[in-house]
Amino acid sequence: MKNKILVLFSFLFLIFACNTYRNLPVVNDEQDWIYESIPASPQATNGDAERGFEYISSGDYVGTGIPYDVMAKRFGAYKDTLLHRKGDNANLPYSFTAFDMENGAKVMTGTCFTCHASYLDGQLIVGLGDSKSNYTKSLSIFALGINAMVKLKYRRNSSERQNFQPYGHLMPKGMRYIVTPNPGVNPAFRLEEGYANFRDPTDLEYERKKQYKMPKYVLASDVPPLWNVKKKNALYYNGMGRGDFRKQFMQASLAGVRDSTHAREILNNFEDVLAWMHTLEAPKYPKEINENLAERGQAVFEENCSKCHGYYGENERYPNKLIPLDKVGTDPYYAYYFMRDNGLSDWYNESWYAHSYPTSSHVPKAGYIAPPLNGIWASAPYLHNASVPTLEDLLDSRQRPKYWKRVWNSRAYDHDKMGWQYESVDKAKGKYVYDTTLQGYGNQGHTFGDELTDEERAAVLEYLKSL
Ligand code: HEC
Ligand code: HEC
Repeated sequence: MKNKILVLFSFLFLIFACNTYRNLPVVNDEQDWIYESIPASPQATNGDAERGFEYISSGDYVGTGIPYDVMAKRFGAYKDTLLHRKGDNANLPYSFTAFDMENGAKVMTGTCFTCHASYLDGQLIVGLGDSKSNYTKSLSIFALGINAMVKLKYRRNSSERQNFQPYGHLMPKGMRYIVTPNPGVNPAFRLEEGYANFRDPTDLEYERKKQYKMPKYVLASDVPPLWNVKKKNALYYNGMGRGDFRKQFMQASLAGVRDSTHAREILNNFEDVLAWMHTLEAPKYPKEINENLAERGQAVFEENCSKCHGYYGENERYPNKLIPLDKVGTDPYYAYYFMRDNGLSDWYNESWYAHSYPTSSHVPKAGYIAPPLNGIWASAPYLHNASVPTLEDLLDSRQRPKYWKRVWNSRAYDHDKMGWQYESVDKAKGKYVYDTTLQGYGNQGHTFGDELTDEERAAVLEYLKSL
C-alpha cells in the first residue's frame, strides 16, 4: 500500500476544481458516423520494440519527480527481478524509474506500469490494467509529508528543489480531486486534466493561471489492457484518442515536461514504445478449455456479438466500432464527461499535441468502443467503469450485483464465473464495496447476452476463454 501511495505522489501535482455542471449536450445518436467503423490514422512504423520496452520501463517521460535521495532509502532492499532493469532501476520496484534531470539532480517517479501492469494469479502481467488500485481516500497528508521531507533535506535554491517545484507544492491540494467514490477504478484522466490546467497549450510551459474549470465530481474508469492497442484505430473507452498514437501515449508527460521542445524529445522515443506495444500478446487462459463447448460458443458469438466485437482466429477481423450510448445502454456519464464537463479535451485540441506535427486530437462522442476481446478472461472487472465483476454477470444483466465486495488478492480468480471472486452485499457500506448506484458507476446496459439461453451463455463463456 505504501508503495502505491508513493507511486501516486510521483505522478501528482495540482488539480484545482470548483464549479458547476454545464448542460447536457444535444446528442443525435442516429448520426451515421456512429455506426461506421472508425478509420485508421497513419502511425509511425520505424520503432524498435526492445528500445521501446526499455524506455517505457526506465525512461524519463514523466519529465520530473521526487528527489531520488528522499525516496531511495526506502527501496534499498528491492531487487527488480521482474523487469530485470539496470543501473538505479535494478533496485526499484517495477513501477518506478529514476533518471537524471538536465540540471544534474536525480529524481524518481512512477511509470506507465503503475497502472498498466498488474498481478494475476501471483504473476506480474505487463500490459494488464491494474484493477486493484484504491483511490477512495485522499492522500493529501502524505503529499504534505513528502513536501516537508524535501524542504528539510534541500536548500531553497538547490537543483533538487528546483526540479520538484511547482510539481511538488501543488501536489497536496490536488490529491482530493482524484478521490474516487468507488474502489478499483482509476482517475488517470482527472489527473491529466489537473496537469493540463496549469500548462500553456502552445508551448506547454507552466502557467499559474488555470486554463479552465474542472467539474467537482470525480469520474474514473477501468484500465484497458495494452495488448489490444495494435487492433485499435481510436484509443480510450469513448474512442476519443485519434491521430498519432505517440502523442496520446505521452499525455502523462504533462506532469513534469519542461516545454514543447522537451516534449518533442519524449515524442521521438515513443515511436519505440508504439513498436513495443505491438509486440504485446494477450495472456493465454491457464486451464483446460472444453473444445466442443467453445466451438458451439463460437457460432453463438459470431451470430450475436461479432458485428460489434469482430472475428477471432483464422478469420481475424476487428471492425473498430463506436456504439451509440442508447444502443449499448451502459452508464453514459463517462462519455458525457468528455463531451460536456471536462476542460481537457478542448485544451488538448488547442495544444501542441493537436497542432504540431504529427497531429492528434480528442474527439469525444456519445458512445463507447466495442473493444477487442483478446485476453478478456484476464481483464476483469468489466465495462468501462469496472462495474461488473465477472464475465458470467456481464452476459446476464439480471444477475449483476448492485453492491459488491471483491477479494483483493490477485489469486482470487473465479474460474467458473470468469472474473474476480466477490460477494454481493446488501448496502454500500465498508470501504471496499463497489456501489453501482452512484452517478457514473452504474452497471446497466449491454444486455446482448440476456437473450441467449443458459446453454448458449455457457458456450460463449467457454469460447471467450480461447481468445
Ligand atoms: C494513473 C494511471 C495511468 C498511468 C500512469 C498511465 N495510464 Fe494509460 N490509461 C489509464 C486509464 C485509466 C486508461 C483508460 C482511459 C480511457 O480509455 O478512457 C488508460 C488508457 C490508455 C491507453 C488506451 C488503451 C485503449 O485500448 O484504448 C493507452 C494506449 C495508454 N493508456 C497508454 C499509457 C502509456 C504509454 C502510459 C505511460 C506514458 C500510460 N498509459 C500511463 C491509466 C494510466
Ligand atoms: C451493438 C454492439 C455490441 C454487441 C452486439 C455486443 N457488444 Fe459487447 N460491448 C459493446 C460495447 C460498446 C462495449 C463497451 C461498453 C462499455 O464499456 O460501457 C462492450 C463490452 C463488452 C465486454 C466487456 C469488455 C471489457 O473490457 O470490459 C464484453 C466481455 C463483451 N462486450 C462481450 C460481448 C458478447 C459476448 C456479446 C454477444 C453476446 C456482445 N458483447 C455483444 C458492444 C456490443
